[in-house]
Amino acid sequence: MKVSLLLMFVCVFISACQQSDEQDLNGKQVVVTTGATDNAVSAESSSLPTDLIPASMQRAGDAVAGKHALINQPIVSCGIPLSAMKQLDANPLYTFSEREGEAAQLAYNLNLVEDEQGVQIAASNCLTCHAAPLFGELVIGLGNEFLDFTTNASAVVEQSGALVSGESETQAWEKFANRIAAIAPYIQMQTAGVNPANNLTFALMAHRDPQNMQWHEEPLIKPPPQLAPPVSVPPWWRMKKKHAMFWMGEGRGDHASIMMTAAILCADSKQDVQKLDAIAPDIRTYIESIEPPVYPFEIDSTLAQQGKKVFEDTCSACHGTYGEQVSYPNRIVPIDVVGTDPSLIEFAFGDGQAYVEWFNQSLFAELAQVYPSKGYVAPPLDGIWATAPFLHNGSVPTIRALLNSPTRPSLWRHEVTDSASKTQFNQSDLGWNFIDLANNAEASAGVGAAWVYDTRVKGYSNTGHQFGDGLSAAQRDAVIEYLKTL
Ligand code: HEC
Ligand code: HEC
Repeated sequence: MKVSLLLMFVCVFISACQQSDEQDLNGKQVVVTTGATDNAVSAESSSLPTDLIPASMQRAGDAVAGKHALINQPIVSCGIPLSAMKQLDANPLYTFSEREGEAAQLAYNLNLVEDEQGVQIAASNCLTCHAAPLFGELVIGLGNEFLDFTTNASAVVEQSGALVSGESETQAWEKFANRIAAIAPYIQMQTAGVNPANNLTFALMAHRDPQNMQWHEEPLIKPPPQLAPPVSVPPWWRMKKKHAMFWMGEGRGDHASIMMTAAILCADSKQDVQKLDAIAPDIRTYIESIEPPVYPFEIDSTLAQQGKKVFEDTCSACHGTYGEQVSYPNRIVPIDVVGTDPSLIEFAFGDGQAYVEWFNQSLFAELAQVYPSKGYVAPPLDGIWATAPFLHNGSVPTIRALLNSPTRPSLWRHEVTDSASKTQFNQSDLGWNFIDLANNAEASAGVGAAWVYDTRVKGYSNTGHQFGDGLSAAQRDAVIEYLKTL
C-alpha cells in the first residue's frame, strides 16, 4: 500500500507516466543557440522545464578522430615530466598499442604532451576517471569507481618532484605542482571509490577569470567547502540517450563545450580553450558511440522475460524502455520524490550559485549553460550491471540492496579495490563483494579504513529511491535478471 501510494504520487508529479519521447519535446523551448550572433539566452529568459529535459543541438563530429584526440592530444596540458613518470609507473598494465613511440609505453590514462620549452610531459587524460578494467580488459567509458582520493593529492605530486632534473623539467613540474596544491584541499575524499570531480572543477573555477581563463594565485570567488560531496562517475555510454550532462541534469546545450571544463587545470588562455573546443565535438561524438559491455555470465531468459514486465510496470516511467520499443524520457525526479542524498542540490542552490554563474559567463557558455535542478535525472540503465556501487554518491553497493532499501548497509567496506576479478563480482546481487560492518565503528578503523563507506557522513547518505521496496522477492529476482540484459 505504501508503494502504490508512492507511485501514484510519482505519476501525478511526472504528469503522465506513459508520456512518449516526442511529447517530451513538444512545447518545450529548446534553449540552445546555434550561431555566435545570439548567445545571450540565460536561464531566466528561457522556459527550461524542470521535469523532462529537452534535446538540444549538438555540433557534429567524427568518432574515430575523437578517440584519437582523447588519447593523444594535450587535453590537460600540464603534468609530471615523462622522465619522472617512467620511474613512477615503469610497467603500466593497460596501454594503447595504437599509440606511437613513448606514448605507447604510457598507461592508458596518461597522454604524452610537450610544453613550450619542449619538455615531454605525461599528463592525465579523461580516462583517469572514465575508463576502468573490467574482468581483465580495459573498458573505455566505464566510470572508475575504485580511485582512491583519500590521500593528499599534493603530497603525491611533491614526492615526484625528487625525480625531476634540469631547469625546464623543474619549471614544468612546478606549474603542475602549484595547480595541484591549489586544489588539493578540496578534493580529498572520506572514502576511496567516490570522485571529487565537481569540487575539483569548482576549485579551478575559483582561481580563473571566466572570460580570459587567466589563473590567479588568490581565488576570485569563494572556494568550495573542503568536505567534497562524493560523486559516482557515470558511464559514458549513457550520453547517447541523455539530453543533459550530470546527475542533476545541469549540463545543458552543447555537451562538447561543457566537457571541456574538465580540462581547465592547465588551460590558461582563450587560445588554449579554443584549441580544446576544436576537438571537443569529435570527442563528444566518440563518447556517444560507446556501447555498454555485455553481461558475461549466464542469464535465465525466462526469468528475465518476467522481469521485463515488472520493469515496465514499475521502473520505465522514469528509466525508459528497452527491446522493440526503445524510449528514454530524460526525466528529472524531484528530490522529495526520489529522496536520495540532497547535498549536491543544496550546494548548487546555495554557495554553488557562484560556479553556475562562473560557467554561464565563461568562454564555455557560448553554446551551453549550466542549469541545475532540484532533483536528479533518472539515468538510462544500459550496462547498469557493470557500474556498482549505485546512486549518484555511490552509497549502495549492489542493485539488490538498491531495490530493497531496508537491507542497504549503512557502514560497509569494499572487499575489492578494482573491478578486475570475476570471482569478486556478485552475480546474484549485481555488485562488487563488500563487507557489511553493521555499524561497527571499530571495524571501520585501521587497515582498509580508506575503503569504508560511512553513510552517516554528510553527502554520503544512502536514503531514498524506495521504488523497489514494494516488489515481492520473486519480482525483485526477475527485475534483477532483466537488468542484466540491458
Ligand atoms: C577526476 C575525474 C574525472 C575526469 C578526469 C573527467 N571526468 Fe567526466 N565526470 C566525472 C564525474 C565524477 C562525473 C559526474 C559529475 C556529476 O554528474 O555531477 C563526470 C561526468 C562526465 C560526463 C557526463 C556523463 C553523464 O552521464 O551525465 C561526460 C560526458 C564527461 N564527464 C566527459 C569527460 C571528458 C570528455 C573528460 C576529459 C576532458 C572528463 N570527463 C574528465 C569525473 C571525471
Ligand atoms: C520516480 C522515478 C523512478 C522510478 C519509478 C525508479 N527509479 Fe531508479 N532512479 C531514479 C532516479 C532519479 C535515480 C538517480 C537517483 C540518485 O542517484 O540520486 C535512479 C537510480 C537508479 C539506479 C542507480 C543508477 C546508478 O547509476 O547508480 C538503478 C539501478 C535504478 N534506479 C533502478 C530502478 C529500478 C529497477 C526501478 C524499478 C523497480 C526504478 N529504478 C524505479 C528514478 C526512478
